Amino acid sequence: MIDKEMNELEKQCQKIWDELGSWWDSSVMDGDYFHQAFVFPSIVKLLELQGGELILDAGCGNGALSRLIHQRGGEVLGVDFSSSLIKQAQERSPDIQYKHISLTDTTSLLELSKSKQFDRVVCSMVLHDMPTVTPFFKSLRTLLKPNGYFIFSLPHPCFNSPSVQFEPKACLTIRDYQDQTMVKMRSKPGQPIEQLVFHRPIQTYFNLLIAEGMVMNGFEEPCVDPKILPEESLWRERSRIPPALISRWIFANKL
Ligand SMILES: C[S@@+](CC[C@H](N)C(=O)[O-])C[C@H]1O[C@@H](n2cnc3c(N)ncnc32)[C@H](O)[C@@H]1O
Repeated sequence: MIDKEMNELEKQCQKIWDELGSWWDSSVMDGDYFHQAFVFPSIVKLLELQGGELILDAGCGNGALSRLIHQRGGEVLGVDFSSSLIKQAQERSPDIQYKHISLTDTTSLLELSKSKQFDRVVCSMVLHDMPTVTPFFKSLRTLLKPNGYFIFSLPHPCFNSPSVQFEPKACLTIRDYQDQTMVKMRSKPGQPIEQLVFHRPIQTYFNLLIAEGMVMNGFEEPCVDPKILPEESLWRERSRIPPALISRWIFANKL
């Protein structure tokens, strides 16, 4: 994609997330069932917090994960490109620092890394909302301290992507996994407007990080007891299929 097209998509995404901000905040609050069941436990495990670590929550939304990390003794900076979500995050947790930054803006990411370097960079359920992940992945070298971890979660690209149909009953039908696609969709019930979602096969993410000199040293595909899921969850009757993946990365020369 050429830069002009990319900038245009980025602007569209930002406008959508600004418009979605207050609805997203009231829907997610401190984490909806999906965060609580499928995302937060694995992120907390892979963060391996001892207390006092400096953490970047990249694409922090309304700060649900930032607050959880803060409660567990991490010092968090939350960044997001949506002014409305930064405002919601700040209102919910005035004791946490939040900053308006786009993860596709190389200059801002470099400036941030000059002021602070992080023990952990965590990016939860964000990368599939970005037209490009390359500038962010390239900035990890300067954002992370030596031996720092990068942890990201995603809706599982195999089992929970726009090209997956929830049929037949209790199963999934998967088509065109290998293609990178962009679709407009509502990702949560009741979502007032569509967002842009960028499907990439897992190898795209992994190979970009490997090209930056990183290796994976943690990987989770959580499945949970269906009884803890709400009645309406499509994952209740597909309880052995993981709807999210979470992986942890470190620079190879720091192993
Ligand atoms: C699905 S929400 C997830 C929010 C939060 N991490 C969570 O798990 O609740 C995606 C978030 O990514 C943010 N986002 C998307 N593209 C971004 C970008 N280029 N730079 C910074 N934030 C971005 C959106 O504003 C939104 O807050």
